[in-house]
Amino acid sequence: MKIPKINQRDFLMILTGAGISAESGIKTFRDSDGLWENHRVEDVATPEGFKQNPKLVWKFYKERYFQSLEVNPNLGHEALVELENRFKDNFLLVTQNVDGLHTRAGSKRVIEMHGTLNTCFCTKCKKKYTMSEVDLEQEIPPCLACEKPLRPDIVWFGEMPYQMDEIYAALDKTTVFMTIGTSGNVYPAAYFIAQARQRGARTIGVNLAEPENSSYIDFFFQGKAGDILPKMVEEMIE
Ligand code: OAD
Repeated sequence: MKIPKINQRDFLMILTGAGISAESGIKTFRDSDGLWENHRVEDVATPEGFKQNPKLVWKFYKERYFQSLEVNPNLGHEALVELENRFKDNFLLVTQNVDGLHTRAGSKRVIEMHGTLNTCFCTKCKKKYTMSEVDLEQEIPPCLACEKPLRPDIVWFGEMPYQMDEIYAALDKTTVFMTIGTSGNVYPAAYFIAQARQRGARTIGVNLAEPENSSYIDFFFQGKAGDILPKMVEEMIE
């Protein structure tokens, strides 16, 4: 498929998911051998799961935090930095990923709508800490201020994703929407593409397998983000 052209009058919104980090060595959620294969979502990704077994939930996110420190951004992340450098304030990257790889690659206009592995906060007084500030040797690290249990700064199922007002404001002016490396299973993120398209935006998809919400994609490129994005970014800008 021919790569669509974009120019400085466009406003770009990019939505990324676990697929963009796959080439950095981070497991996706729903592919075979994915993260949800070995865990019940209810156990490790809901407020109820945390209430029932906070040690298990902390163990799961500590492992993922330490893993995220060992991997590096890949060519896909870097291509999106290049796109932001060209479009500046006409660009917003919304990610469902919690691994911090977009910011480590150099992206600045980023919303981590499902939270981040790099911070945690107190279940009682809500004070926020970076992971390096707290005692991760403890099974359930306590708040340094009030000693109540801390929890990972992850948006779990049933909780409200972060910065939704900013995302919807940007969706209103989006003329080109790209969905990259996400299966299109989790809402509200999976619905952004439909909202952008309803408002007249052109939509582009880059994914290894066809996503659930593919009926909203005008231009679909099947393959690895790290292979496709560098070439695409080079060719698409007028
Ligand atoms: P999924 O695991 O559901 O989907 C990952 C997608 O990436 C799949 O469609 C793969 O085909 C695709 N993929 C794999 N490798 C790729 C590559 N190298 N290049 C491009 N695409 C590739 O992950 P998400 O859609 O991100 O939420 O999952 C959404 C949310 O569900 C996550 O943020 C998480 C999870 O439950 C929370 O934890 C709140």
